Amino acid sequence: MSKVKNISLSAAGEKELSWARENMPILSGIRERFEKEKPLKGVRISVALHLEKKTGILLETLQAGGAEIAASSCNPLTTDDSVAAALSKKMEIFAWSGQSKEEYYGCLNAVLEQKPQIVIDDGCDLINLLHGKRQELLPQIIGACEETTTGVIRLKAMQSAGKLKFPVMSVNDAYSKHLFDNRYGTGQSTLDAIMRITNKLIAGKTAVVLGYGWCGRGIASRLRGMGASVIVCEIGSRLGESGIGTEDGACKPASAQQKRESGCHRALEALYDGFRVMGIDEAASLGDIFITATGNKNAIDVSHIEKMKNGAIVCNAGHFNNEIDIEGITKKGARKEVLKENLECFTLKNGKCIYLLSEGRLVNLARPSGQGHPIEIMDGSFAVQALSAEYLVKNKGKLKAGVISVPCGIDDEVARLALFSQGIILPKPTKEQIEYSTAWEHGT
Ligand SMILES: NC(=O)c1ccc[n+]([C@@H]2O[C@H](COP(=O)([O-])OP(=O)(O)OC[C@H]3O[C@@H](n4cnc5c(N)ncnc54)[C@H](O)[C@@H]3O)[C@@H](O)[C@H]2O)c1
Repeated sequence: MSKVKNISLSAAGEKELSWARENMPILSGIRERFEKEKPLKGVRISVALHLEKKTGILLETLQAGGAEIAASSCNPLTTDDSVAAALSKKMEIFAWSGQSKEEYYGCLNAVLEQKPQIVIDDGCDLINLLHGKRQELLPQIIGACEETTTGVIRLKAMQSAGKLKFPVMSVNDAYSKHLFDNRYGTGQSTLDAIMRITNKLIAGKTAVVLGYGWCGRGIASRLRGMGASVIVCEIGSRLGESGIGTEDGACKPASAQQKRESGCHRALEALYDGFRVMGIDEAASLGDIFITATGNKNAIDVSHIEKMKNGAIVCNAGHFNNEIDIEGITKKGARKEVLKENLECFTLKNGKCIYLLSEGRLVNLARPSGQGHPIEIMDGSFAVQALSAEYLVKNKGKLKAGVISVPCGIDDEVARLALFSQGIILPKPTKEQIEYSTAWEHGT
């Protein structure tokens, strides 16, 4: 039995879904095929994704393929209540915006009641629950798909500790996901949300972007496009899946498969892209707007917040709400005043007021100001999700427990379909070109 905020919002939600459906040609092509072939017939799929209109079209696509869906959000603030109401007429939905932590976990547990065979997660909370309090559900799991960088980092840590019990497709690592979703999607939607909440001008401001990964690159380039003077802050060490950060900042590789790029490479890239680059200690007093996109804890800590200008705006585009140390400033006596939805002023002991957007949660997704990524971007990302779910079912029992890559076939096909949907068809290489590109004999 679904649980949403207000079922009478369903007509408005259906209009939102129609608009998304019309603008998601890749998923609509997949849906047509799924309707005919029913590759997910009778498969129970539990989902934890930001529950808004684009996600709704993914859920409809999976359902068209024959799946039984139970879905919740992967964040307490990001559900579009009208869309949740509309979807709850077609499938099981447990989601509303503005949840407490207990309600959030209550909804994750509720979707697991359907005893899933496939799990679609964003941030790994659902998968984590299955490996903790809900282990009794592990035997029937065929596999899972993970949407975001932070989730993949957690999964890789689980795998290294020998704890991951089923195959998980790293949808985030597909090129047709992170190249476009994390960069152009987060770039546009983060600025959109900041402008909706504050109604302030970006041009002429000094904006500090923490993290020059896929998301940070997108945010920095869009800020520059809007006329901000941008400072990029990175970290001088490898972290998480890319290696182990050491106290002296030296690099200690975690494994043979570690990523090649460190924070220093990314900082250098930012510099060559034309941005000012420095540590947050130095940037803290310079910025008018701060945006974190690091996937890391306390990227902005108490000492940085204390150095900021009176009236500085701070927000987060990374997955969890721990990138800015709100708890720390609260413990140090900062007084919070809610000015309006998604806008709070923290008055520090030193008398300065620092504005925090969306409680430090994903600013581009926190409702109602956060609309999420543009529709075309999610069309590609969710096409990877739908095809990955189909792949897991087709390969049931053949895949080992662990983090697995999305096959190139799926990745290439989604990019091809995205181009096709924009009327672009590229030529195939000639026989001669294929031969040339695989031969070593040809020289000057
Ligand atoms: N807002 C959204 O819609 C959205 C979309 C996709 C991903 N994400 C989330 O955004 C975060 C970043 O994702 P990504 O794909 O860009 O990751 P990424 O791994 O490509 O980049 C993160 C960067 O942050 C740097 N970093 C780490 N700690 C830092 C610190 N303390 N100070 C400064 N820099 C630091 C790392 O060196 C790295 O270059 C993740 O939490 C991810 O899940 C959000």
